[in-house]
Amino acid sequence: MIELPRTLAVFSGILSIFLAVFFHFRKPTKSRGLPLPPGPKPEFIIGNARHLPTTSPWLQYTAWRETYGAWYSGDVIHLEALGSHVVVLNSYKAMHELLDLRSIYSDRHTLEMANNLMGWGRPTFGHRYNDTWRKHRKIMRSPFQKDKIATHSRSFERSMRACLLDLLHSPEGFHEHLRLFAGRAIIMFTYGLKVDTAKDPLVEVPERGFARVINMALPGHTPLVDTFHFLKYIPSWFPGAEFKRNAKIWRKELDDMVGDPFKRVKADIAAGVAIPSLTSTCLEDTTHSEDDIMWSAGSMYIAGADTTHALLSSFVLAMATHPEVQKRAQAEIDGVVKGNALPTFEDRGNLPYIECLLKELQRWLPAVPLSIHHRLMEDDYYEGYFLPEGSIVFPNVWAITQDEAHYKDPKQFRPERFENPATAELDPYKYTFGWGRRVCAGMNFADAALYVAIVSVLAVFDIGKPLDEHGNEVEPEVTFGSGVVRYGLASEDMHSQASLGLTRTCI
Ligand code: HEM
Ligand SMILES: *[C@@H]1O[C@H](CO)[C@@H](O)[C@H](O)[C@H]1NC(C)=O
Repeated sequence: MIELPRTLAVFSGILSIFLAVFFHFRKPTKSRGLPLPPGPKPEFIIGNARHLPTTSPWLQYTAWRETYGAWYSGDVIHLEALGSHVVVLNSYKAMHELLDLRSIYSDRHTLEMANNLMGWGRPTFGHRYNDTWRKHRKIMRSPFQKDKIATHSRSFERSMRACLLDLLHSPEGFHEHLRLFAGRAIIMFTYGLKVDTAKDPLVEVPERGFARVINMALPGHTPLVDTFHFLKYIPSWFPGAEFKRNAKIWRKELDDMVGDPFKRVKADIAAGVAIPSLTSTCLEDTTHSEDDIMWSAGSMYIAGADTTHALLSSFVLAMATHPEVQKRAQAEIDGVVKGNALPTFEDRGNLPYIECLLKELQRWLPAVPLSIHHRLMEDDYYEGYFLPEGSIVFPNVWAITQDEAHYKDPKQFRPERFENPATAELDPYKYTFGWGRRVCAGMNFADAALYVAIVSVLAVFDIGKPLDEHGNEVEPEVTFGSGVVRYGLASEDMHSQASLGLTRTCI
């Protein structure tokens, strides 16, 4: 028995060398004589494995833009990873021209571990570009239209009032309170289910599952089986095949995460007590299959809360470090509400500075700095380069946010950059929510929830810097988590900065 792992190692070693050599010498067939885009030189067998950044990859990709930009454009970078061509796009122009304007970029790459073994190919965001995906997007289209979101705004306002009370009672728990607000909004919208604490499994489980899987999609983070697909045939009892045992556990976790709330809605409908929601409405209309409804609802539920929460945590950080912006935003709100009412959804048109603040939050610390990859469905040609079919294309949104061609002093947090329509800088809503047919389904929803949260918090609280044990202000560090969905403060830091001061200004 002792010999088995060694035999396996030798076997897989030989096979991987064979595959790598095959891959290495396979010449692009339809390159039209054009080169692949520039990038770090792939090494024999392992490709760019040693060049792939392991943390915050968007920073390295942005730096490569400079490196290769000296001789080439740097807007399009090529790597070899995952046994495939990986293309990183580093400018708004390249992302817009390829991902928005050419539909052949609408597919997603199937990751062996995440999509196949763990079953994350079933939620909308992991889907191939096929008929099931089209059905999902159809289910989401009408409920997410702007006017529909407006009718839902009362529910955001109600959730926010509960959140304000939580903030008042325990300001040091703001991270959890804002998490609960984001989760509550999405769970009510999709399922009509109520949650009372951030510890509710409906809130906690998707957060954990999503964080795990989404970080697994980064080159440099993917499990070995994504490069050497034959490893999936190893039986799970085999020594070293822990990934297969984990995949099984995580698959079950996803099945329950998406299945349990769906079953609860069905039971509520049967009992006649269901609160109307996207799921209940779709179930009444018999044009959709139950499976499509369940996975569409599950996708919104999984994709919606973390991203919204990430931006809210960046908001707290931005306000604590930019008191002058906070004062201006509060003055604008005071001018609109006059008295002790909270601003409502209808006040939005009279709050132009808040509009700029929302844009600047999306830009300064984008929730998804390296956007979800797209898969190229046919050979393509761009700016003198050959982009082979099957390339995994990563839109490096971070590079846009730091691009001096679009933003003056990009490191500065300055909502004013969007203020004057004649000189306004590039609108981040054009790129932080993704591209083309794959653009974020919940964009209007997220934008409305963020608006309600931000104006309500600013109307009632001053956000200050954390205090040390002697009561002196501590300058919070503008650091970011390194996960794909990124928080203004990594949650570990949040807890150590628990005193981030929220002071009550009015009722
Ligand atoms: C600040 C909040 C949010 C941000 C920054 C964000 C960003 C994104 C991005 C970058 C993508 C990938 C787009 C692409 O492939 O080009 C995406 C996809 C998606 N988002 Fe969001 N999102 C947010 C909130 C939400 C919410 C609230 C929901 C649902 C209620 C949602 C549902 C989805 C779905 C279903 C997809 C998959 C689309 C597809 O693959 O066809 N998102 N989002
Ligand atoms: C579409 O792709 C997904 C995998 O992403 C698969 O589960 C589904 O069966 C496919 N649907 C069709 C109609 O081919």
